[in-house]
Amino acid sequence: MIYVDHAATSFPKPAPVAAEMDRFMRDDAANPGRGGYKLVRRAEARMAEVRSQLARFVNADGPDEQMIFTYSATDGLNIGIRGVVQPGDRVVIDQVAHNSISRPLTAMAGRGEVDLVRIVPPDAAGIVDPRQIADALDAAPTRLVAIVQASNVLGILNPIREIGAICRDRGVLFLVDAAQSIGAVPIDVAADGIDLLAFPGHKGLQGPPGTGGLWVGPRAAEVIQPLVREGGTGGDSAYPTQPPIWPHWLEAGTHNTAGISGLGAGLDWIDARGGPAAILEHERELVRPLIEMLADDDRFTLYGPGPDRLADRIGLVSFNVNGLRPAETADLLDREFDICVRAGLHCAPGAHRHMGSFPDGAVRVSVGPMNTADEMAALVGALGLIAARATQPSMSSQASPTG
Ligand SMILES: Cc1ncc(COP(=O)(O)O)c(C=O)c1O
Repeated sequence: MIYVDHAATSFPKPAPVAAEMDRFMRDDAANPGRGGYKLVRRAEARMAEVRSQLARFVNADGPDEQMIFTYSATDGLNIGIRGVVQPGDRVVIDQVAHNSISRPLTAMAGRGEVDLVRIVPPDAAGIVDPRQIADALDAAPTRLVAIVQASNVLGILNPIREIGAICRDRGVLFLVDAAQSIGAVPIDVAADGIDLLAFPGHKGLQGPPGTGGLWVGPRAAEVIQPLVREGGTGGDSAYPTQPPIWPHWLEAGTHNTAGISGLGAGLDWIDARGGPAAILEHERELVRPLIEMLADDDRFTLYGPGPDRLADRIGLVSFNVNGLRPAETADLLDREFDICVRAGLHCAPGAHRHMGSFPDGAVRVSVGPMNTADEMAALVGALGLIAARATQPSMSSQASPTG
């Protein structure tokens, strides 16, 4: 089997991740903060260690405790967005935003919890032009800019540092959705001017499902409210409401401690492979032959930047085999070649509208650090065979859509 759906979740997880989860479950899995006995303290110490690892991983410019554990990127985005936006506020997002940014904001606008959501269109390749953000911010007072660092559909990288500087200059909070970038793209929240960084643990960081994080920088920490969940924190039980103490302020309830412990092993594993910059280089080289083939062969439609602009990309490529619906292509890859890809709208309909692939969507290939050049050659070969057969009239009726 060839797994190239790492944008959905990384698979397989590195062996040390599973080993660490197993160790934690057997040896340390008491509930952090809930008690003072030695076992609890060991669990607490492991959580603090991983929290600190995560803070260092993104060069956090504040106390480790402002690195909040979440259940996923979606969870962190909701905690960040709902926590800082108030009725009457204006928010700027980009058109390729994932549903985990656009849906909460659209629903909040419907309920009158935010005044206006301004959607900035990207350039033809799908990349946000920082001047568009500056113009949008100069047009009216704005509370928050929320941008995806790497699109989960187009594979493009946005100019986060430039947008961060624009937000800083104007006193606007900057939230970055790092779901597709963390682990495979170096992130420096201090240098990039990021106030809120939401990310999953289960994709590029190689951790298990049910893990993620939200970095709350100093400016956001002054204003953010716990509007997604309030409740038990272990200590500080006498407070009638959520104790204003980090990380408890935003981290109510028992977390996925075994998963977080495994996530720490994932971070070590990334370090051992040379860190995100080395992984990005490896992943770009993996997708290079695929992008070249898709760009050169008119039986395919490639979305996003071409082979001459690999530096604008992560290791994620969306395309279609002309004449086949994306679900049909994905189904053929799975059934006949044992290759796992994702077809459809990828929870980001705005990105597909932008590139003209709405409503059927596209086929998405997303690689991980463990994929090999041989696997990519097999994928390119399989797509060549599928494209050759797509010209045969009976082709479409042979495949069943997978959605
Ligand atoms: C750009 C982007 N944002 C947010 C998410 C949501 O991530 P999670 O599944 O961890 O909630 C995804 C998931 O694919 C994504 O690609």
